[in-house]
Amino acid sequence: TPTALIRNFCIIAHIDHGKSTLADQFLLKTGAVSERDIKAQTLDSMDLERERGITIRMHPVTIYHEHQGQKYELNLIDTPGHVDFNYEVSRSLAACEGAILLADAFQGVQAQTVANGFLAMDAQLKIIPILNKIDLPHARPDFVIGEMEQALMIDPDDVLRVSGKTGVGVDELLTAIIDRVPPPAGDPAAPLKALIYNSHFDTYKGVVVYVRMMDGNLKIGQRIKLMRTGREYVVTDMGQFRPEMTKIDEIGAGMVGYFTANIKNIDNVNIGDTVTDALHPTAEPLAGYKEPKPMVYSGLFPVNNNEFEDLREALGKLKLNDSSFTFTPEVSDGLGFGFRCGFLGMLHREIIQQRLERDSELNLVQTAPNVTFEVLKRDGTVVTVHGPQDVPDAGLIEEFREPIVKISFLIPAENIGALMGMCTDRRGTFVRTEYLSKQRVILVYEMPLGEVIYDLYDKLKSVTHGYGTMDYEVLGFRAADLVKMDILVHGQKVDALSVVVHRSSAERRGRLILKKLREEIDRHLFEVALQAAIGARVVARENIAAMRKNVTAKCYGGDITRKRKLWSKQAEGKKRMKQIGQVEVPQEAFLAVLEQD
Ligand code: GTP
Repeated sequence: TPTALIRNFCIIAHIDHGKSTLADQFLLKTGAVSERDIKAQTLDSMDLERERGITIRMHPVTIYHEHQGQKYELNLIDTPGHVDFNYEVSRSLAACEGAILLADAFQGVQAQTVANGFLAMDAQLKIIPILNKIDLPHARPDFVIGEMEQALMIDPDDVLRVSGKTGVGVDELLTAIIDRVPPPAGDPAAPLKALIYNSHFDTYKGVVVYVRMMDGNLKIGQRIKLMRTGREYVVTDMGQFRPEMTKIDEIGAGMVGYFTANIKNIDNVNIGDTVTDALHPTAEPLAGYKEPKPMVYSGLFPVNNNEFEDLREALGKLKLNDSSFTFTPEVSDGLGFGFRCGFLGMLHREIIQQRLERDSELNLVQTAPNVTFEVLKRDGTVVTVHGPQDVPDAGLIEEFREPIVKISFLIPAENIGALMGMCTDRRGTFVRTEYLSKQRVILVYEMPLGEVIYDLYDKLKSVTHGYGTMDYEVLGFRAADLVKMDILVHGQKVDALSVVVHRSSAERRGRLILKKLREEIDRHLFEVALQAAIGARVVARENIAAMRKNVTAKCYGGDITRKRKLWSKQAEGKKRMKQIGQVEVPQEAFLAVLEQD
């Protein structure tokens, strides 16, 4: 297709505002799929995405639309709607010239609408603002348009009114895409230069690389080079998603498509990297490449230790399709053999866990998450720390650093006091507020990521009765008064239970952990001391009095079946005892402490 007839665009929207439904409507209107197929063939094709109703991976689609006697090629590059995948959003924006900025006509502007809206503006994209779900009886178009104007400086006259569900306004939207979004620039005669904005793994074809052609063209048989790694491959196949993979012979400048080249390992294909011709390479790679950095880590252990190899295999399979997920073997005193896994964020972590549970029969324990830390050592070297076990001795540490995020909340104005209190408790630094209307306000803070992943999202939802939304971006690492806190059982340090905490909350966290431990460890013939300590200094202490703990004391009345259950549970737990010094600690105790609440 000549570039004058190509339009590349994406849809930016908060979760659940109707992005996928609108994309389906595009497919319907342009005849790419039939009504009958639409259920089976939607953009959110992965089961898990359907279950959760969240777009996780981008699924591009090419549609054709007749306008004033010309056949236009429209490439919709879908973007994930969640903060964990911010970098992927930025790469898909870089593949477009325009963005549909979609707001739910009832819910209005939300945190991701604002965050990704600004990303698109920064990327110089032409913005087409739309109000979606205009069919809703309780839609508030004027109110929401007012918010778009206030939050994103959008001209109210530019806003289109659409319903992805009924199809109202969709023809006008297709016309607006053609009229308002500029065609791609790009020199067909220049050396090949293409942006990799996504990829997936196919068992037969190897890695399928999703590209936006900037300059030149791509042909089957061509020898290409991935500029990050310098690796060279020969293109074996290529095509477009219409929406199913459809073979074409050449991808020209300005176009969007996929290719395969017998690439076996997804780690060799970096999102954001530049593809060029191996013999006639382009001078400079495209700007903006970043290495995906897992920011949240947690341990993953099979409950049954002989399932370790099965777990390794299952993780390997997941990794095939997701290069931002990492895992390395780890041994824990309490939980045995497992893996320390790195995720982009909390949602990414949840998705991986759910995929594991769905795809394998494994019974897994996931330990509480921690963020990545940086430690500047006295000798001047900086080390990255993925878990408490990797923290160097206190004596070697010059400075402890934690990741800081800029976090924006979009909340009802009446909750502003409660939310500010919450942020202060979590070591937040106030940045600014901005009123969208009398009722709604944007609140911006800088805060340690560690505080954000702990329980902030749940707290936000409860404080705002579900109406608040949030979005954040990582700013970098900043020095903080962090300490490694050890847990001692009867004088003996238990590595698996160490945590990294801010000094000011060490005592509270320590007490909490010891309380949980005390509930799980049986009484012994002697008194058992439980301690939380920073170096040699004990910050919290609990004792388990000598004598056997009577588990059935918890049950009131004489419900014998319940007692039996408890007895048998206790017997089972006993089978997996871990000897720490003279003290027997059941595996349950480790779970209680390490597992996330
Ligand atoms: P994520 O993939 O999580 O980002 O969600 P999404 O933005 O793709 O939302 P999706 O298309 O899954 O729609 C969310 C909900 O809104 C679904 O229950 C849809 O049926 C409903 N919905 C979407 N568009 C419309 C619309 O135009 N009108 C009405 N009434 N409901 C809609």
